Amino acid sequence: MSDGRFSENTKNHRFSDHGAGATTKKKAESKPARINYEVKELSSTTWPDFEKFFAKHNGVQGGCWCTFYHHTEGRLLKEGLERKDAVALNRKEKRTLVNKRRSHGILVYAGNQAVGWCQYGPKEELPRIDSGRNYSKLDVSDDQGRNLWRLTCFFVDRDFRKKGVAGVALKAALDSIQEQGGGIVEAYPSTSKEGGSWALWFGTVAMFEREGFKAHAKLGEKHLLMRKTLA
Ligand SMILES: CC(C)(COP(=O)(O)OP(=O)(O)OC[C@H]1O[C@@H](n2cnc3c(N)ncnc32)[C@H](O)[C@@H]1OP(=O)(O)O)[C@@H](O)C(=O)NCCC(=O)NCCS
Repeated sequence: MSDGRFSENTKNHRFSDHGAGATTKKKAESKPARINYEVKELSSTTWPDFEKFFAKHNGVQGGCWCTFYHHTEGRLLKEGLERKDAVALNRKEKRTLVNKRRSHGILVYAGNQAVGWCQYGPKEELPRIDSGRNYSKLDVSDDQGRNLWRLTCFFVDRDFRKKGVAGVALKAALDSIQEQGGGIVEAYPSTSKEGGSWALWFGTVAMFEREGFKAHAKLGEKHLLMRKTLA
């Protein structure tokens, strides 16, 4: 099993879109502006960009700072602390994990601004999934001895949504996993879009289908376990 560490060097890939999702009546007359995206690994070097991005959105999901799935227990904010202190603790914890190379993720950039995020990591780095009510009932004994990777969180800057940024982050995360040895990659998308963007942090079923993931098991009524093997 990979120990989930990766090189400090950031790998830059370039993606572009022509404003996918931004359909306008004028489309036939003038092409929407081309947006070029660059992707980088979260690391101590890119931490300031991540920090600025997440701080703009108050730490995301009520101050999580994308720490929730790093814990075995289900806590967003540590109990017994004032809210602002609990949020600050999450931010500090994330930074410590990044510095220790125990937190993986892809940042998508528009220019020099980080605007998209996909958290991925080896199973051991994101243990909260194992204790999930539905996941814990699954028989995953056939996974023994294989690298198992998880894709747990997507987040896109509110000013850059519905332009395919999450899809860019997903492709880059899969490239990174492949470069780090590959294995089984798991995703847990919502089967409904009823909750809107807030409730889609795991991504959509179609996002993963587009990348060749297959349904593996139901996770209750609202989520699906999907998998893809990267050799
Ligand atoms: C969900 C989210 C990541 C999507 O990012 P995006 O770049 O705007 O999405 P894309 O343009 O790549 O579209 C991906 C899919 O999301 C769907 N989607 C995007 N915004 C949506 C919305 N407001 N309501 C319903 N579906 C939506 C798209 O229809 C598309 O669906 P498909 O795969 O079935 O075709 C983004 O809205 C977001 O960041 N939401 C907040 C999630 C959050 O709080 N994460 C915290 C985890 S740390």
